[in-house]
Amino acid sequence: MAFDPRFPKLHILDHPLILHKLSHMRNAETSTKTFRHLLREIALLMGYEITRELPLTTETIETPICAMEAPVLEGKKVAIVPILRAGLGMADGLLDLMPSARVGHLGMYRDPVTKRPVHYLNKLPDPTGRIFIAVDPMLATGYSAAAAVDLLNEHGVPDESIRFMALVAAPEGVQVVQDAHPGLQIFVASLDEKLNEKAYIVPGLGDAGDRLFGTR
Ligand code: URA
Repeated sequence: MAFDPRFPKLHILDHPLILHKLSHMRNAETSTKTFRHLLREIALLMGYEITRELPLTTETIETPICAMEAPVLEGKKVAIVPILRAGLGMADGLLDLMPSARVGHLGMYRDPVTKRPVHYLNKLPDPTGRIFIAVDPMLATGYSAAAAVDLLNEHGVPDESIRFMALVAAPEGVQVVQDAHPGLQIFVASLDEKLNEKAYIVPGLGDAGDRLFGTR
């Protein structure tokens, strides 16, 4: 795992398997089918790190040999919240890892002129005692990520119960999110170089939603 001195809450999950799979995703020649499959696999691998601090308790069980106090997850449950639509591709990988997690949906699209998020759907599970993992593959301007966390706060989920997970981030976007939510933990596979004039991440991987669903 790597850190960047500018962003104290940013965890860069630069595991070799993740970076190898991400390079295939970045390649413009990669098919929709492969892109979708890799996004799901990387989300699962990232989920393994993101859930590292889930609290454990013990429960008495009988192995075939003897009784033992076995570690099991404490009551804290997980909710996965994809930001539509590209977040859906990452949510699938997290669900492979945590099949009983609740799933909320936040619908947002980027206004092509203002580059600001337009919010159109909000369907979230009960926040009580839950860790929320908000997912969107591209943390670009940071406006939709910050708006998603605002919506979770309004729903009763404090920043310390939220993890934001993206595949690729631009420094400009991480700065926006960090300024709006300084305590929020952000997990990415790569911190890329910059945003271009169209607010795409450079080098990035293009439009994640279009590549995931085969649209243009
Ligand atoms: N959204 C994307 O899908 N790609 C980018 O590079 C930026 C925002």
